[in-house]
Amino acid sequence: MDYLKIVGNKKLSGEISISGAKNAALPLIACTILAKNETTINNLPNVADINTFLKLIKMLGGSFTKEKNSATIDTSTIDNTTATYDIVKTMRASILVLGPLLARFGHCEVSLPGGCAIGQRPVDLHLKALEQMGAKIEILQGYIKATAPNGLKGAKIVFDKVTVGGTENTVMAAALASGVTTIINAAKEPEIVQLCEVIASAGVKIEGIGTSKIIIEGTGGKLLDIKPFSVIPDRIEAGTYMCAAAITNQKLTIKDIVPAHLEAITSKLEEMNFEIDIKENELTIFPTSKILPVNIITTEFPGFPTDMQAQFMALATQAEGTSTIDERLFENRFMHASELSRLGAEIHINGNIATILGKKGSLTGTDVMATDLRASSALVLAALVASGETNIHRIYHLDRGYEDLEGKLLKIGADVKRLKES
Ligand code: EPZ
Repeated sequence: MDYLKIVGNKKLSGEISISGAKNAALPLIACTILAKNETTINNLPNVADINTFLKLIKMLGGSFTKEKNSATIDTSTIDNTTATYDIVKTMRASILVLGPLLARFGHCEVSLPGGCAIGQRPVDLHLKALEQMGAKIEILQGYIKATAPNGLKGAKIVFDKVTVGGTENTVMAAALASGVTTIINAAKEPEIVQLCEVIASAGVKIEGIGTSKIIIEGTGGKLLDIKPFSVIPDRIEAGTYMCAAAITNQKLTIKDIVPAHLEAITSKLEEMNFEIDIKENELTIFPTSKILPVNIITTEFPGFPTDMQAQFMALATQAEGTSTIDERLFENRFMHASELSRLGAEIHINGNIATILGKKGSLTGTDVMATDLRASSALVLAALVASGETNIHRIYHLDRGYEDLEGKLLKIGADVKRLKES
């Protein structure tokens, strides 16, 4: 296994280019199951989760050719509709093949994803939506066994909770269903907007894209002709590097972004006394005289994203004063707090509220362990400002969602090395 060795407090400068969004690319790869033709996806992030999802498409009988940041996927040869536990346990987003497989083939078996480090993460809302569209769902020995022998029918789906994956599975199932599906209380993340736009560009009538009410007129089983497209920039990767500029209090430019996807992050950094110059597809963060504390509540888009919570906890350790974070989406998403405390941070956890007593220069390098994708990025941020050396272990978590993280950090002057555990 690899680990990262980072020497903190280096002078950083320059610019960082953002890759395609992992959380947009995953449902978009699943969406190719709805296509009758080969589909080319550009600006794919070169990260482990994407390679795992392409491997899943191959396991189902599909095929693909891949360049570093693009893939051409052919699902016309799929002859297996079972997503097995061994692949689903490595990447829970595999659940996103459930809707498209059921819509196209009328049956599929997908392993229940099980919990993960940040929480139990049930998929009950995905299943309830598909049942309302006429699917028969059984849970047998840890597998979701879904059938819809007469095809899926449009339905009115009201989600009890906003669910990104549940909305994505339902949109993809509705695209091939017979009749109209109305989704109420749909998630509005930019990743869902792009999924709907790609499906609409293939001729499916969709109203309310980007709103909490999406209306989809299904094709009644007719497969889609999906045109080549490019994945939107990764707003969480962008936010992570914005925090790299902030935590080290250095001027950095973040390029290839959609500023409108970053407004909750930008506004919190401005609250912390950072000045940010925003242009059409880049932004520059300037050093501040004093990092102010902040209060954060995580919520669905366009509110403050839970996927940026760990990064802001690291940043808050350098603020002059007390910050609070209220994590409202996941029940166990503070595991980075104990690792940050090993670096010298003073953080108190009380249920889903974290209180961070910030102090500039309070971190000292040591050995820490990544526990999940975004927690590991928080440890990288802390290491950039900790005095001395920090070794971050189990960085396979990082590799799931950050393309060439060392290369991007080295380019702006960080002292980071990827080494092998002895
Ligand atoms: C997506 O996960 C993202 N993953 C997550 O990013 C992100 O944290 C999350 O949305 C919230 O924004 C991908 O897009 C691949 P949800 P998802 O369904 O779809 C509950 C990262 O770091 N819920 O919106 O699984 C659930 O337990 C990852 O890139 C149910 O109760 O999230 C959670 O409390 C981590 N029943 C809340 O809803 C369901 O059937 C939000 O979950 C589904 C969800």
